[in-house]
Amino acid sequence: MPNPMTPELKHHVQSTFIEALEFRRAIKAFDETRHLAPEDFRFICEAARLAPSSNGIEPWNLIVLREPRLRAEFVQRTGANPEQAAKASHLVAITAKTAQGIDPDTSEYLGHIARTVKGMTPDQVATWRPGFKQFLTRMLGVHGSDAAMFGYTCRQAYIALAHMLTAAAVIQVDSCALEGLSHAAATDVLADADLIDPATDRFAVAAVFGYRSEDPKRPQARRPLGEVVIYS
Ligand SMILES: Cc1cc2nc3c(=O)[nH]c(=O)nc-3n(C[C@H](O)[C@H](O)[C@H](O)COP(=O)(O)O)c2cc1C
Repeated sequence: MPNPMTPELKHHVQSTFIEALEFRRAIKAFDETRHLAPEDFRFICEAARLAPSSNGIEPWNLIVLREPRLRAEFVQRTGANPEQAAKASHLVAITAKTAQGIDPDTSEYLGHIARTVKGMTPDQVATWRPGFKQFLTRMLGVHGSDAAMFGYTCRQAYIALAHMLTAAAVIQVDSCALEGLSHAAATDVLADADLIDPATDRFAVAAVFGYRSEDPKRPQARRPLGEVVIYS
């Protein structure tokens, strides 16, 4: 397919994209009076929805903690930083499937993905399930370990997270990934509110979106490209 992008447009897109990545910082202090427009938050969620995932199983959900009481309970029980988790416009808990949640033999969720999302016939599903099991067993070596299986799905959830952070930056919405909180308590809060069944879904990572009340204290610090990229 011919590339319709002119050199000028490509240059514009590249520089705008890099500017967005430079704008994106892990924001520690949010202006609690400023809220995202619904269409902006939807755009950010759409970026997660379109994120790639291993075998296309999208083993995540985005749980938007809208109810003030539940959000306050989440912050209090998990020990999340209130300057971020309580004050940002939106707090999202990203969950990932457990080993049971993506059990290749029995998972209802995988059946849904195969049939409804990928549009497979029953025969195709019957071939795909053992193929996926072999992939988990022989290639990744994660099948049989609850921790390794959850690690596998969490890795996918983090890709969705990265898409959200980048999408937010593109429209100059501030954000921060939040890993520094009790993951067990986060799973409990979500389960107690009947938002997840912890047998099949557990908390992976959170993210907040909103508008900064102050700039980060230090400049964005990264290793130079020559140190990061190794050519053979
Ligand atoms: C998966 C992940 C988890 C993170 N967890 C936290 C966190 O719990 N609290 C926090 O303030 N920053 C958190 N951060 C932000 C990082 O500390 C930050 O991205 C890093 O120091 C680089 O700074 P910058 O994002 O401003 O360039 C997290 C980032 C990622 C990617």
